[in-house]
Amino acid sequence: MNASIKAGALDVEHVTLELGGRPILKDASFNVAAGEFIGVLGPNGAGKTTLMRAMLGLLPLSKGTIRVNGVAVVRGNASIGYMPQIRSGLAGRRVRGRDFVAMAADGHRWGLPRTSAAAKADVDRVLDLVDGRALAARPLSELSGGERQRLLLAQCLLGDPKLLLLDEPLISLDPRHQTGVVDLVRRVQRELGITVLFSAHELNPLLNSIDRVLYLGNGRAALGTIDEVITKPVLSQLYGSPIDVMRVNGRIFVMAGDVEVDKLDHAHEDGPDGHSHSHDHDHGHDHGHHHSGTHSHDV
Ligand SMILES: Nc1ncnc2c1ncn2[C@@H]1O[C@H](COP(=O)(O)OP(=O)(O)OP(=O)(O)O)[C@@H](O)[C@H]1O
Ligand SMILES: [Mg+2]
Repeated sequence: MNASIKAGALDVEHVTLELGGRPILKDASFNVAAGEFIGVLGPNGAGKTTLMRAMLGLLPLSKGTIRVNGVAVVRGNASIGYMPQIRSGLAGRRVRGRDFVAMAADGHRWGLPRTSAAAKADVDRVLDLVDGRALAARPLSELSGGERQRLLLAQCLLGDPKLLLLDEPLISLDPRHQTGVVDLVRRVQRELGITVLFSAHELNPLLNSIDRVLYLGNGRAALGTIDEVITKPVLSQLYGSPIDVMRVNGRIFVMAGDVEVDKLDHAHEDGPDGHSHSHDHDHGHDHGHHHSGTHSHDV
């Protein structure tokens, strides 16, 4: 890599994304430094999932560039681990936890079964990282949502990615498990020194863990500290309507009139099948290696 270019873990420059001819993101620019834990927020349909898919090279950019560790996006970028938003069906599977994690390791790149010693060691490594050895012996169907989430995180860590894109890991978890998942991701993120983008509907479970927040809305993106972004003017612009921010007992409530905005979102998140979207079916792992320096940015 050209040493004169100071690359961050994630550099988004003047990016426009469109789906079905409709702009989802317009001329967005922001920079995430290596080792940052970023909470990705924004109303339903703001483009959180779409942006992650663009970083994975699964969606062409209409304009601009995205670089991950200094390298322009490519499909199958091995330095990115991905947990897609749609994870339905796992609860009914009898497959043993370890085999589930290993499925993603065994020949995930070439579609060939490959149980090499290296793959096996990698599975052990990621299970240890999430403290999941005991879970690994049990079938998925017997695990709680929070426990399955731990194994999904383990899967994402296969191949030693430098950037993790976790799309709504807290969906359908109760508050106690939500905190457990956030704490686990934070611990692993620090232990490995990797960069994490963690999307969520609610800010509060993330408040004590994230370094900065990336807020999407109205085709725009704002990246900054909570104090910089979670403000009346910034959020009113992103929602395109007046927003109030209230802080109570260390929690933050983002209000549109007298309704909490994340409660609004949840109202239509739980469709009959538990999901309101169907455009995700990549399964979570593109792997490889690239790395580089640091840089960062603001609102
Ligand atoms: N294949 C598609 N064609 C056209 N529009 C799409 C397609 N996929 C998604 N969209 C639209 O793009 C917008 C952004 O969707 P996206 O799933 O990225 O939002 P999100 O922020 O992840 O929302 P959520 O919080 O509900 O997960 C939505 O309005 C969605 O309806
Ligand atoms: Mg989404």
